Amino acid sequence: MPSAASLPPAPPFTLRARVVSPLGEGGVLDLADGLVEVDDGGRIAAVSTVDDASPETVGSAVDLRPWVVMPGLVDVHAHLPQVPNAGLGYALPLLDWLDRLTFPTERSWADPDLAERLAPAIFRAFAASGTTTVLAYGVVYEAAMDASFSAAEAHGIRAILGKVMMDRLTYDETIEPSTILDRTLRESADLAGRWHGADGGRLGYAVTPRFAVSCTAELLAESAALARDLGCWWQSHVSEDRGEIAEVARLFPEARDYVDVYDRAGALGPRSVLAHAIHLSAREEARLAETGTPVAHCPTSNLFIGAGVMPLTERLAAGLAVGLGSDVSGGPELSLFGVMRTGAYAQQALRSLAPERAAMEPDAVEPLAPLDWLRLATLGGARALGLDRVIGSIEVGKEADLILVDPGRTAPLGPELDDADLLVDASLLVSRLIFRAQFDMVRAAWVRGRQLEGPS
Ligand code: GUN
Ligand code: ZN
Repeated sequence: MPSAASLPPAPPFTLRARVVSPLGEGGVLDLADGLVEVDDGGRIAAVSTVDDASPETVGSAVDLRPWVVMPGLVDVHAHLPQVPNAGLGYALPLLDWLDRLTFPTERSWADPDLAERLAPAIFRAFAASGTTTVLAYGVVYEAAMDASFSAAEAHGIRAILGKVMMDRLTYDETIEPSTILDRTLRESADLAGRWHGADGGRLGYAVTPRFAVSCTAELLAESAALARDLGCWWQSHVSEDRGEIAEVARLFPEARDYVDVYDRAGALGPRSVLAHAIHLSAREEARLAETGTPVAHCPTSNLFIGAGVMPLTERLAAGLAVGLGSDVSGGPELSLFGVMRTGAYAQQALRSLAPERAAMEPDAVEPLAPLDWLRLATLGGARALGLDRVIGSIEVGKEADLILVDPGRTAPLGPELDDADLLVDASLLVSRLIFRAQFDMVRAAWVRGRQLEGPS
């Protein structure tokens, strides 16, 4: 068995293991005994089978068999300050959940020392779950966001973060309401100036108006203009819970629907990531597709809070770019393996609840296979972020964002009695990893070949 001591901390190195990855052109790479060479710049220089490699290359490789090397997972929707709350608040309506549990927790980050203390552990927890890239919301406080970015910079995770913007119903009771708009725009621009593109693009900034309920039309429009001017991402929530949707209709009577609120603000497009998108009308779905606006699908959150089940296959058939989000602590777990599992179950439930639709539109309700879920959690997320040329799969020229997974930890009878022959097919291996995911099965994670703290 490989040991933690043998794991290379920094590039260059060559890993020898089973290698499983979706491929950009479609299909799956599955090398039973493969080599992944990472150059000193942290890029994938070569991917081959042991049989095709030179004896020198094989001799220099770190042997990690029977563990599996996969692309690092890409979480396109999470909330950093909410991580300590994970698992709390089941089945509260969204707006109550925010008021009772979430806003008080986020308010505690007014103290930047708390952010400084928690953020390093939060990034370690993401890495321990196999997440090497995270697009996350922070809090409304600038100093806590600097602390969060500093922690991500030191940890090594790939992170796109944003200061939450709320110019109504904010939890920041210290700020004079008439000054919020100017101040939140200025602070966001200052943070983006300090962090967007830092460390050669490993860190990025997302302008982050929370959602239409807590933002005026003016803030939404100004935030979208700011993101465009600065070349940053823009993120918000859309169409999550029925109570929220009714509130948005009340607050924006001039808009045709929820998506139209963001459309009128000039906020739709390929650099904007909208979380949830559960209860969209056909018009809203078509408009997101037309504008190339990606969606973060967050099934653990949607079932934990009880917001609903997003018709995933329909969204994909409409041509939307879909990534997966843990949405902690709307979702109770950081692990995208858990998100894949829950998402798969939810889609089965949706099929069984709408048998007449399944009969009419079999393509629209065909369940995703385990390898499709892995693709969503890696390349799908990378594509939603516009980073699919850089990360998301194990292919030559990409940055070496990798994880190492021990399938023995998922064995029903323990690793000694595991029948490895059962898992020779990549779809069965990935099925096992998704449906029997364990907290400790991720043994290592690297971003650009640099090992991340977190996995044990
Ligand atoms: N809508 C607005 N804010 C939030 C949040 O923090 N979590 C979730 N799940 N939905 C939101
Ligand atoms: Zn969220």
